[in-house]
Amino acid sequence: MKVRKAVIVAAGLGTRMLPASKVIPKEILPVVDKPALQVVVEEAVASGIEEIVLVLSPNRTIGLDHFQPAPELERHLEQRGKHDILESVRQTNQLARFTAAWQDQPLGLGHAVLQAREAVGDEPFAVMLPDDIFDSERPCLRQLLDTSEALNAPSVALMRVAKSEIPKYGIVEVRPARPRLYELRGMVEKPPIEQAPSDFAIVGRYVLTADIFDLLARGRPGAGGEIQLTDGLLALNKKRKMFGYEFEGTRYDLGDRVGYLTAQIGFALKRPELADNLRAWLRTRLESGHFLAKL
Ligand code: UTP
Repeated sequence: MKVRKAVIVAAGLGTRMLPASKVIPKEILPVVDKPALQVVVEEAVASGIEEIVLVLSPNRTIGLDHFQPAPELERHLEQRGKHDILESVRQTNQLARFTAAWQDQPLGLGHAVLQAREAVGDEPFAVMLPDDIFDSERPCLRQLLDTSEALNAPSVALMRVAKSEIPKYGIVEVRPARPRLYELRGMVEKPPIEQAPSDFAIVGRYVLTADIFDLLARGRPGAGGEIQLTDGLLALNKKRKMFGYEFEGTRYDLGDRVGYLTAQIGFALKRPELADNLRAWLRTRLESGHFLAKL
């Protein structure tokens, strides 16, 4: 299968990040100095994706605005000779081709993906959750695309989670196929620990086939009263062989406060112009015992 389009869903309420996400969608909150949405779009482009379908709330279009030209700002930067900054601003307009799809009400992740149906059409596509960001040598989505292209089957990104974390995720039942590769045998959204079929959670990257749209359209509200993507995946898995790939790299959950903070540190330490100062600050705090005071 050849995948050209990625659906990025950003129409949720982001209640775990309130009050920061009251006016600004959490997907626009920065990772160091780039909105999370841009980090994810860059991962899509680096993975070979040609078109981005952004699912947004009609009340919050800022996610789309970020990727449009900003003529006045660009002129201002040009006149003042701020060429590096100008270049970084212009890059955001030229990253990819964007199409918007609208989710009128936040009825769940499955419902959000369904709103991209017309824009995707009848071809395989990727789904990316912009509150999950990855630091990996090979982009996480590329790892999944390689899996799906080789096996001609849908795939999801998998990560082992601690027992206590299981009730927060969609958890899969798997049969090992090759190192890091698992055939999916079932899945359940946010199970109690004792009912979980494994400790493998689905995290925010998927490669899907367009027949999932019919299955999502038939979906009834599931866990938490939302139309869950996991239920659509389960129905798809009854029709098709599907795989999970235990991605290589680090994942940060930006929807959670600690995940958001660790992402700032992790990504800043990768930037040579920031790393030395940040490391020096971390070192003095550690040496002074400040971080360990409560241990
Ligand atoms: P989350 O469950 O992490 O986002 O969904 P949320 O519901 O906005 O956050 P909390 O739990 O209230 O803090 C994962 C992704 O799916 C999108 C979100 O915007 C997020 O990027 N989503 C979720 C939608 O687009 N629509 C929905 O109805 C639900």
